[in-house]
Amino acid sequence: MHLQWRPVALFGGSIYSHTPGQSPKNQQWHHRYMRAIVHLAVCMSKLYLSFLTVITFLLCIKIFKTYVLIVNTHVVDHHQQQHHHISSSSSSPSHFQGDYVNNGFLMVSSNGGLNQMRAGICDMVAIARFLNVTLIVPELDKTSFWNDRSQFEDIFDVDHFIASLSDEVRILKVLPQKQRRRIEMASLYSMPPASWSNMTFYYNRVLPQIKKYEVLHFTKTDTRLANNGIPVEVQKMRCKANYEALRFTPPIEELGKKIVRILRERGPFLVLHLRYEMDMLAFSGCTEGCDDKEIEELTNMRYAYPWWKEKVINSTQKRKSGKCPLTPEETALALRALDIDPSIQVYIAAGDIYGGERRMASLRLAFPHIVKKETLLEASDLEPFRNHSNQMAALDYIVSLESDIFAPTYGGNMARVVEGHRRYLGFRTTIRLDRMLLVNLIDQYKKGRLSWDEFSQAVKTGHADRMGSPTQRLEIPGKPKEEEYFYNNPQECLPPISTKPKRL
Ligand SMILES: *[C@@H]1O[C@H](CO)[C@@H](O)[C@H](O)[C@H]1NC(C)=O
Ligand SMILES: *[C@@H]1O[C@H](CO)[C@@H](O)[C@H](O)[C@H]1NC(C)=O
Ligand SMILES: *[C@@H]1O[C@H](CO)[C@@H](O)[C@H](O)[C@H]1NC(C)=O
Ligand SMILES: *[C@@H]1O[C@H](CO)[C@@H](O)[C@H](O)[C@H]1NC(C)=O
Repeated sequence: MHLQWRPVALFGGSIYSHTPGQSPKNQQWHHRYMRAIVHLAVCMSKLYLSFLTVITFLLCIKIFKTYVLIVNTHVVDHHQQQHHHISSSSSSPSHFQGDYVNNGFLMVSSNGGLNQMRAGICDMVAIARFLNVTLIVPELDKTSFWNDRSQFEDIFDVDHFIASLSDEVRILKVLPQKQRRRIEMASLYSMPPASWSNMTFYYNRVLPQIKKYEVLHFTKTDTRLANNGIPVEVQKMRCKANYEALRFTPPIEELGKKIVRILRERGPFLVLHLRYEMDMLAFSGCTEGCDDKEIEELTNMRYAYPWWKEKVINSTQKRKSGKCPLTPEETALALRALDIDPSIQVYIAAGDIYGGERRMASLRLAFPHIVKKETLLEASDLEPFRNHSNQMAALDYIVSLESDIFAPTYGGNMARVVEGHRRYLGFRTTIRLDRMLLVNLIDQYKKGRLSWDEFSQAVKTGHADRMGSPTQRLEIPGKPKEEEYFYNNPQECLPPISTKPKRL
């Protein structure tokens, strides 16, 4: 006999399509059918229970999402806000547990190269925390000289960034829909915050704008916060953002660690941030050691860029005052004078060296084991990063942090940020080459006025206190550009300076 089950059976109707007779044979069948019905009923109730569980679960998710949405979009009525006065020495910051009063939303566009943006992003985190505003993940510079279209999540681990700061400041990947609609309908209020501002500026000038417009956009992030005169909890936020929250994406971290592993297997290594690249020379006007054709090329490049405003530059004068990056030749002399072991691996953290192999010859003679990421890795390893200058710079950043010695030849953003990070990691050796002292000693040595030993001794004496050991951050009131940058020496986040001088 062939039974045809019909769906209607599930709802208590006939379970089979034909009408059975009452014969004993049929009774036997009847028995079987009863068993089938009981079995089916048990199955159905199990199914129903699972169904209920799923529904309850979905309902919970829905409630949770609604709750998150409410928290995220909650903006307090400005008029009910009490006026608070800032005390620069307030107690430890209260921890954000998802329930602080949100004063509004801050969007930022970071400008500059990788390390300038890095410092700027950390400043923005600290400012957002101080003002109790929600920070939207920063937009990175696509128009800078380095022409890299990478966005935040292409370089930094964005989920780690948000999560590791979540007890302090609320960060969202995008503006919530309500605020997005609002700025689409009205317009977005944008401003560049004044350079080197302190918290008084952000409290008195920026916060009222955020409260007025709900969403505020900073068009720049470089050096918007002063180095000094900032409450210690704000300084500590800068450190937390820089040293805990900002981590590169897993592919960048992995490849960076691979380079470090290869170097370590071969022995100690020094990272030389040899900032002897074409853009640097064109921009700075430093042409020491270049031939006439090269000088012309560099000068033409400087004149071609409208934002490189300083056009007429006397290279000799500039070099003498210590404002030029050291040349590869000068660098070789300086490192040899400091008795750096000639057999150490020297990893060049830089792009193309201007003048190529010809300019590298004397450095290679002094330190034969010169390497860079392109020589340590397979071409295929670097392929995904090659077209993204900021991702390539991130690889060098990782290697620079881990090196036995870090030696930058120019005081740019990378030199500063890496030096500060190495201090934070336990005062790892960073040679802060004193360019003004060095070029003058080198000129005397070359003219034969100093013997090698005299030269070497003078270089060593001049660098005894410039090896990255604990020092007081140099403060020059009224001249922030000439000060030591906060990220260069984040003293508020480092162990107190002992009175005993550290041995080199
Ligand atoms: C930020 O919130 C804290 C409490 O978490 C409060 O003490 C402080 O006054 C608030 N600051 C501003 C600028 O709203
Ligand atoms: C903040 O900067 C302003 C203007 O530069 C200055 O007058 C004020 O004294 C500074 N405040 C603090 C706390 O350093
Ligand atoms: C540049 O400065 C040096 C030293 O101050 C001076 O001797 C030289 O003549 C200057 N060169 C030009 C082209 O002005
Ligand atoms: C990188 O850029 C070059 C030239 O612009 C192009 O030929 C190449 O395909 C790009 N590589 C990747 C991986 O995008």
